[in-house]
Amino acid sequence: MSASSAVPFSLAGKTALITGASRGIGLAIAQTFARAGANVVLNARKADVLAAAVEGIAAEGQQAKALAMNAGRVEDAPALIAAAVALFGGLDILVNNAAANPIYGPVELATPEIFAKIMGVNLHAPFELAKAARPHLAARGGGSIINMSSIGGRNPEPGLGIYSVSKAALLSLTQVLAKEWGADGITVNAICPGLIKTDFSSALWSNEKTMQHMLRQQPIQRIGEGDDIAAMALYLVSDAARFTTGATFTVDGGYLA
Ligand SMILES: NC(=O)c1ccc[n+]([C@@H]2O[C@H](COP(=O)([O-])OP(=O)(O)OC[C@H]3O[C@@H](n4cnc5c(N)ncnc54)[C@H](OP(=O)(O)O)[C@@H]3O)[C@@H](O)[C@H]2O)c1
Repeated sequence: MSASSAVPFSLAGKTALITGASRGIGLAIAQTFARAGANVVLNARKADVLAAAVEGIAAEGQQAKALAMNAGRVEDAPALIAAAVALFGGLDILVNNAAANPIYGPVELATPEIFAKIMGVNLHAPFELAKAARPHLAARGGGSIINMSSIGGRNPEPGLGIYSVSKAALLSLTQVLAKEWGADGITVNAICPGLIKTDFSSALWSNEKTMQHMLRQQPIQRIGEGDDIAAMALYLVSDAARFTTGATFTVDGGYLA
């Protein structure tokens, strides 16, 4: 460890933007980054829920600001990054966490409109946000990007067909950006969560049969929590991971092991 980073997981002096951060995994990441000393910009669409999330972090004495915008709108990505940069005067970390999964069922339910929506929010928007963030990260001497994929991106889950395709492509995008931007000191990594107890996955964990089926294949016999993913995210944006890029980290209780 270098002398300048006696606490390798400290994010003091860094600013992080987390999309989809008013609840679930994104909120857990924002809380963890803030506790590690970062200034955090929380993004989501619904301003009231977002404001409550920001207040919760501020109540712990940490620095958090809200950015109520739709992170899935490709054309708004430069404006979203510019607004985030303006809030704390720079950007070191981008977590592409917001995602959409408008259907659950056989793959043929995916109409052209649904296909375009899933790819737009889960793949194209993270790319545009990363592109817009790149000069800001480089201006600070480097930075970190995390793309939130899924175990479905490594091994498609039944009922989550095109969502799984989008998350698999996000893993490839992670490698592409890591290769092209490493020379700027920018690391790009992906996390593949397993089943985590959030609103997003409630169709899975609220169904006792599906839950038991998943747990039978999982060495660690419980559903994951947002904090399980936030701990990995903290590692990936900290100095401790400065030699780690283009990699995929699966946090799934061993489900895919
Ligand atoms: N939960 C799991 O089991 C699981 C497993 C694997 C991967 N993942 C991935 O983990 C990520 C987070 O999922 P989660 O389970 O934490 O979801 P969640 O609990 O449903 O939270 C989603 C968050 O994203 C925001 N959001 C949704 N669409 C957005 C958009 N277009 N622009 C900005 N914010 C948006 C939501 O707020 P608003 O509605 O107000 O915008 C909310 O803050 C996703 O990428 C998901 O694919 C989750």
